[in-house]
Amino acid sequence: MSQEQIKEEIRALARQRNALILAHNYQRDEIQEIADITGDSLGLSMEAARTECDVIVFCGVHFMAESAALLSPEKTVLLPRADAGCPMADMVTAEGLREMKSRYPDAPVVTYVNSTAAVKAESDICCTSANAVKVVNSLSENEVLLVPDRNLGRYIAARTDKTCHLWEGYCPTHDRLDAESVQRSLNEHPDAIFMAHPECPPEILELAHHICSTSGMYDYARSHSAKTFIVGTEAGILYRLRQENPDKEFILPTAQLICPNMKLTSLDDLLHCLQTMSPQITVPEKIAAKARITLDRMLAVPRD
Ligand code: 13P
Ligand code: SF4
Repeated sequence: MSQEQIKEEIRALARQRNALILAHNYQRDEIQEIADITGDSLGLSMEAARTECDVIVFCGVHFMAESAALLSPEKTVLLPRADAGCPMADMVTAEGLREMKSRYPDAPVVTYVNSTAAVKAESDICCTSANAVKVVNSLSENEVLLVPDRNLGRYIAARTDKTCHLWEGYCPTHDRLDAESVQRSLNEHPDAIFMAHPECPPEILELAHHICSTSGMYDYARSHSAKTFIVGTEAGILYRLRQENPDKEFILPTAQLICPNMKLTSLDDLLHCLQTMSPQITVPEKIAAKARITLDRMLAVPRD
């Protein structure tokens, strides 16, 4: 089958199954192109919560499909590649978090959505890169545990008066971005704006003109008058940035900004998943009931 035939088949099957195809902003170009909706973790969670379709096909990584399953328990949630995980999410376990909680019994746990449902179930509220500071500041307590991303944790800690205790996890893709590469790109493009994701290490965020989630980068690039942008996040973001801003230039400081898990899903996988209605993602109800509350609390925090 040609690529075009595969795409046609995917569209026809999605219609037939009343399926909505969601794709994260880091997915391959062709997956973003065929998706009904692309977005950041917060935007896609909100779509998963409100959609009226019967099936959600989540082109992303495991924790994202799990969140969709938590927010839409009556729907079938499919993850085209069962092996698409998130190494950062796997850096904390429910058992490890319970041990940390025992050391700070009065501090609520704010957990990044990049986490397993079992860890969410041990938490008080979730956050994403788009709402993290707002979520933390919405709490009445003066002390919080921030799990699992130490970089997002430090970013939040610098923007709140609360005492923050951090879990030492990190995203291997963002964590390997080095200040030297960013500085080199800035020297080569002195008029450029550097946008960075809060999963980047602190020395990178210090160089940034703007720090935001992946979808925040689309809004910023669209509204800013600069012609050149250096982009501190995963390479998949370039597809839509370039499509939406054909008169602007977008540069990655290094070729290392690739998340292998986000790149696993192909059109063939998507087609196979719609044909077989698998792999399906479900969460045992004992965990789901608690984990759902943490996502619902996050979604109740007002947006700007
Ligand atoms: P956002 O799209 O929410 O900014 O998340 C980035 C990310 O690393 C998802 O895996
Ligand atoms: Fe996880 Fe980082 Fe990949 Fe996002 S980019 S899925 S945080 S490893």
